[in-house]
Amino acid sequence: MKKTLQIIIAIFICLNIFGQKKINPEVQADSLIRLMTLDEKIGQLNQYTSDWEATGKITTENDKEIQIRQGKVGSMLNVIGTEKTRKLQEIAMQSRLHIPMIFGLDVIHGFRTTFPVPLAETASWDLASIEKSARIAATEAAAFGEHWTFAPMVDIARDPRWGRVMEGAGEDTYLGCLVAKARINGFQGKGLGNVDAVMACAKHFAAYGAAIGGRDYNSVDMSLRQLNETYLPPFKAAVEANVATFMNSFNDINGIPATANKYIQRDILKGQWNFKGFVVSDWGSIGEMIAHGYAKNSYDAAMKAIIAGSDMDMESRCYRDNLKQLVQDGKVDISIIDEAVKRILIKKIELRLFQDPYRFCNLEREKQQTNNAENRKFAREIGEKSIVLLKNDPQTSGTPILPLSSKNKTIALIGPFIKATIANHGFWSIAFPDDSARIITQYQGIKSQLDKSSTLLYSMGCNVNDNNKTGFEDAIKMAKAADVIILSLGEAPNMSGEAKSRSNLQLPGVQEELLKEIYKTEKPIVLLLNAGRPLIFNWAVDHVPSILYTWWLGTEAGNSIADVIFGKYNPAGKLPISFPRTEGQIPIYYNHFNTGRPAKDENDKNYVSAYIDLQNSPRFPFGYGLSYTDFNISNLKLSSDQLSINEGKLTATIDIKNTGNYDGEEVVQLYIRDLVGCVVRPVKELKGFQKIFLRKGESKSLSFTITPADLKFYNDQIKYINETGDYEIFIGNSSNTNLKGNFKLTL
Ligand code: BGC
Repeated sequence: MKKTLQIIIAIFICLNIFGQKKINPEVQADSLIRLMTLDEKIGQLNQYTSDWEATGKITTENDKEIQIRQGKVGSMLNVIGTEKTRKLQEIAMQSRLHIPMIFGLDVIHGFRTTFPVPLAETASWDLASIEKSARIAATEAAAFGEHWTFAPMVDIARDPRWGRVMEGAGEDTYLGCLVAKARINGFQGKGLGNVDAVMACAKHFAAYGAAIGGRDYNSVDMSLRQLNETYLPPFKAAVEANVATFMNSFNDINGIPATANKYIQRDILKGQWNFKGFVVSDWGSIGEMIAHGYAKNSYDAAMKAIIAGSDMDMESRCYRDNLKQLVQDGKVDISIIDEAVKRILIKKIELRLFQDPYRFCNLEREKQQTNNAENRKFAREIGEKSIVLLKNDPQTSGTPILPLSSKNKTIALIGPFIKATIANHGFWSIAFPDDSARIITQYQGIKSQLDKSSTLLYSMGCNVNDNNKTGFEDAIKMAKAADVIILSLGEAPNMSGEAKSRSNLQLPGVQEELLKEIYKTEKPIVLLLNAGRPLIFNWAVDHVPSILYTWWLGTEAGNSIADVIFGKYNPAGKLPISFPRTEGQIPIYYNHFNTGRPAKDENDKNYVSAYIDLQNSPRFPFGYGLSYTDFNISNLKLSSDQLSINEGKLTATIDIKNTGNYDGEEVVQLYIRDLVGCVVRPVKELKGFQKIFLRKGESKSLSFTITPADLKFYNDQIKYINETGDYEIFIGNSSNTNLKGNFKLTL
């Protein structure tokens, strides 16, 4: 029997049938599964981190290589570079069935070239650029031996205390769906099997962004209606974009950890949405169900996770240690194991790893991507597009400070971010943490664009996060000697990201004190804010005339910022998340309900839904962002005041004119309100946008199409329905717009 098996295997491998594209991957996977022992099957479900890098707590073992050789490891994460991936793949290829491993990594915002953090990129509202950024990241990562990125994070996040807001597309579901698709299309390129395409991973399934109190890993408690309406659609969009994999989340949802949540993984994802890829657990999340109090021990945890549809175990070892016994005890049917193995093998087949397990290990390709000038050029462009101009008030001369002339000026560059290097990466750029020489600092970017007639002064002023004020004196001296000051403040890159929740969103350390001291010099100030989330900086908004939100922009940060400061690029970014006035307003988002007692205005406190000590509105609303020019949007017209539920289509048109002094881009946004519903409906919901470029003085008409599908929502029975009735439509350049029209959805 053993001999026969060996012969079959030999034929199998010699014919290299897995390499033949025309054979259906399902059939190929099934034939391989028939040859596999239970141990080998369980091996495919097991994923380890490398011993070189880790993105969680390391659990090292000194026999990993032995386990790989025995076919007990299906995938590894955090193995970076062709040399290392090749070495490990060679060991995997010594296993009995020669099944290659998949190498995965968190390629979140670029790889060798880093791009703005995902929240910042979303502020570009430029889907083609967002897709291109993921495309380049994939090309670079694939050239370094990676098959799989754990991105995009498509979690809706309405709570800026949660550190991982930096990793997603912000608070809005509609925008979140489009960005999810763009990123997946970028990562997966022309499709798995191409050597520059990596598997994308929609994470974290689900509702991770709604952790109570914004505290990472915390519980989530929400209605199923809310889950389906707000948090699940970007995941559904990911399936529609053919995402290869999903990652589940650390949190529990209404008492059931996501990792063991059959409702979301089996019923919705693999059932209703017919997802064909595989689900990886989050780091150790299967084992963490013991701490959740949902599993007695790792045996129980493995059983609950696999039954609920978690296919691969990242790092907890619960599957490795228990699945065999669970099958032998009759607690887990072998068909469940086979199904999970099949999902994983199909992806290996699609990646064409059976044909050539080393096809991603090409040193030449790796070198080409190492310092790729074209990629850097794009990083600079997407950096410019991600910057949001929050404020640019006219000075006594009548003109605002920005854009700044590069001539005949003494400019003082002050602050802890001016000469910072890796801080520009932000969180989640694990591939090259010490790559400071390649990063363009703000100082370098500004200096390179300065005319010879100008002088640059520099003082760090203070650190990001301590009480040391000894640098103030020098900073004030520089400020006094300058015509204009560029002050660069913010949060450190390890203050937003995983496990980086903050209860206080003000500028850390003594940075605001430094700002106040510099302000006393009465010199014009341009403030740059570096962060991965909305910060709270009310004093600055009340006093500083010009503020640019520069987030963390990656490798080319300094050039992108200088382009905007000197007006080579006219900023057009729009906030993808509301900026609160205080932490007490959180969670704050534009598409809230009206309540039974809405306040008439910001001053109305008379038994209405308001704070007695604060306005309801955010400091800066969703969709907000200025330009160096001005746009006037007017003349909203609807093609009809009725839209038929069956085959109807409505066109809304507006006129937009660039009335200012510069050419520029504007993001025209369309919002809809359903006035009366069988469940209460948000005061406004984004349903469309267009980013357009207009020359100074130029006008255009823009039209948007609205169909009944745009008006669907989940009722209290979790049915996705259209409802006839009255709707309002708003068009403008932020969620605050009041330009509106009305129509009826009719039968
Ligand atoms: C994070 C995931 C990440 C994984 C692997 C986890 O801690 O939550 O988003 O993909 O680590 O690095």
